Amino acid sequence: MRVNHNALKLENNYLFSEVGRRLAAFQKENPDRKLLKCSIGDVTRPLPRIITDAMNSAVEEMGRAETFRGYGAEQGESFLREAIANYYSKRGIQIDPVDIFISDGAKSDLGNMCDLFDADNTVLLPNPVYPVYYDTNVMAGRRVVFLDGSKENGFLPMPDESVKADIIYLCSPNNPTGAVYNRSQLTAWVQYAIDQGAVLLFDAAYESYICDPTLPHSIYEIAGAEQCAIEINSLSKMAGFTGVRCGWSVVPRALQLDGASLHDMWFRRMSTKYNGTSYIIQRAAEKVFSAEGQAAVHEDIAYYMENARILKAALTKAGIWSTGGENAPYVWVQAPDGLGSWEFFDKLLHTYAIAGTPGAGFGTAGEGYLRFSSFGTRETVEAAAALLETL
Ligand code: MLT
Repeated sequence: MRVNHNALKLENNYLFSEVGRRLAAFQKENPDRKLLKCSIGDVTRPLPRIITDAMNSAVEEMGRAETFRGYGAEQGESFLREAIANYYSKRGIQIDPVDIFISDGAKSDLGNMCDLFDADNTVLLPNPVYPVYYDTNVMAGRRVVFLDGSKENGFLPMPDESVKADIIYLCSPNNPTGAVYNRSQLTAWVQYAIDQGAVLLFDAAYESYICDPTLPHSIYEIAGAEQCAIEINSLSKMAGFTGVRCGWSVVPRALQLDGASLHDMWFRRMSTKYNGTSYIIQRAAEKVFSAEGQAAVHEDIAYYMENARILKAALTKAGIWSTGGENAPYVWVQAPDGLGSWEFFDKLLHTYAIAGTPGAGFGTAGEGYLRFSSFGTRETVEAAAALLETL
């Protein structure tokens, strides 16, 4: 037998596993020091009561003969697909529930989408960006080219006509930099994708953190996007579902590339390899999109955004350059004194017991930067901010 040699090309550890390993080693050596975790983007607020109530009543339904359910609808239950379509329509975006597929999260969808595309494609990635895009395409044996973000372009690289691309990933608001593309920038990306005959995979996992009302939340706010774009989203960050697991992808039937319907291909792929998200979780997810559910999750979003403000204020006080944190739950920090990403990570960890995520882990253009997540508890963030002010 032969293993997938492309999988051997990956770094030994996934970024967040490596960070976790170093933090665990630190904690083992320093059991009395309290680690201030601002590293992985994992939520800390409990689920709102209205959402756990919906989950509990679905559990009750499963325990009664009259309401028990076995396998669910392959694409996801229609009540949830309709609730999501309605969520889009409030922003003036018309999405047919038929084009929505429910999954267990954005990361799975982003990786699984690789099944739809030939290995012989060129993948274009912004740099820095969520490492899953790169890792999953390396595993699939594809060529990857990068467009670098920098201080100069506001970490929002724009398409370059001279670069040939077949599969384009965008993450806006961006993980890790917190930068958000505006309408005219996204219009240029959609045009570029159409001109190239490429597919655009738009990761909108952080859209609910956008505070500036002029910024687009969905690629489908841009004319023509339904001919070139798939949108991937998740309730992990919007509604605290990192441990619950529920996401969705919009794969429009209008999206026809290389003579094939990506919608039909995704339907076939999902019905072959996935048996659906749990009914209990889909009922909880449905509640997220109700008026009361949205009010409850927006309280948590405001809490995390206040954390971002506190972190940024401390960095400003210390004279350290940062960006992000205004329309996204990540603060992107330039390492002081010319330190490299991992050097700054180690300094923060060993001197202050503060955990960040090294920018270099998100791509070469992240070298010299570090990302703070604002998903910690207020107590953690305030303690970290007090120390950061003295940097
Ligand atoms: C992050 O810290 O970037 C996120 O937790 C990654 C993820 O959502 O998988």
